[in-house]
Amino acid sequence: MNSSDFIEEIRRLKKEKNAVIMAHYYQATEIQEIADFVGDSLALAQWAAKTDADIIVICGVHFMGETAKILSPNKKVLVPDASAGCSLADSCPADEFEKFIKDHPGYKVISYVNTTAAVKALTDVVVTSTNAKQIVETFDKDEKIIFGPDRNLGNYINSVTGRNMLLWNGACHVHEKFSVEKIKSLKKIYPNAKVLVHPECKKNIVELADKVGSTAALLKYATNNDCKEFIVATESGILFEMQKANADKVFIPAPPEDDTCACNVCDFMRQNTLEKLYNCLKNETPEILIDEKLQKQAVKPIKKMLEISEKLGL
Ligand code: 13P
Ligand code: SF4
Repeated sequence: MNSSDFIEEIRRLKKEKNAVIMAHYYQATEIQEIADFVGDSLALAQWAAKTDADIIVICGVHFMGETAKILSPNKKVLVPDASAGCSLADSCPADEFEKFIKDHPGYKVISYVNTTAAVKALTDVVVTSTNAKQIVETFDKDEKIIFGPDRNLGNYINSVTGRNMLLWNGACHVHEKFSVEKIKSLKKIYPNAKVLVHPECKKNIVELADKVGSTAALLKYATNNDCKEFIVATESGILFEMQKANADKVFIPAPPEDDTCACNVCDFMRQNTLEKLYNCLKNETPEILIDEKLQKQAVKPIKKMLEISEKLGL
């Protein structure tokens, strides 16, 4: 079968099975094109909580499938490739995080959505990069808070909220790879370009930013800004939506430190292919399954995040 056969079959199966395909902005272009919804981590959770489809296919990484299943336990949640992980989620094993929490009694626990269900079950409230600042600000200024697992996002949120949250020492290998020198060189070629940076990047990259934000926030900024050129320091999949919404603007992917390629991709996200998506819809596997007790614990901090986000209009 070739790409157009897969596309035709995916469309047919989707209809036949009342399935919905939700894709993260970091997916390959052909996956974004066939998805019913394309969004950031927060939007994927919001849509998964609301959909009336019988089957949800999450084209992203494993924790995104888990989050959808936790929110919609009675629906079948499928992922094209169950081995598509996340270096950030992997940097925070639940048993070690539990020990860290026990070693710091009296602390509230805020976890980034890029975590396993077991870590979410240890958490008071989940956040994404779209709502982290606002959710942290719902806590009293002197509240003692553990924030995990992303040290870069945690440092950034500390800096913009004036908090001193205790940070878990995890990171995303993709966002830690950007090069200050290469962004500065690009700025020489495109002196008017605005620099867009995801808060999972290191502080020295964040310092170069005209705008720091989640994928959705960066897309919105690029769309609403009069500038015609943007250097984008996040996974390069977002460039597809940026370009689609702004045909008259130029988006330049910020390169990683090594010389392997001109842009920065998350290999986990790119494990999903049209063929795997087709097979997943056809065979209804790999399916995300979560133990009922774990689901009941993990759903609380995610629902709390969704409630706060709704109140804040996010
Ligand atoms: P957002 O979708 O919240 O911008 O997060 C990016 C990310 O790294 C997802 O894995
Ligand atoms: Fe995880 Fe980083 Fe890939 Fe996002 S980009 S899924 S944080 S490894």
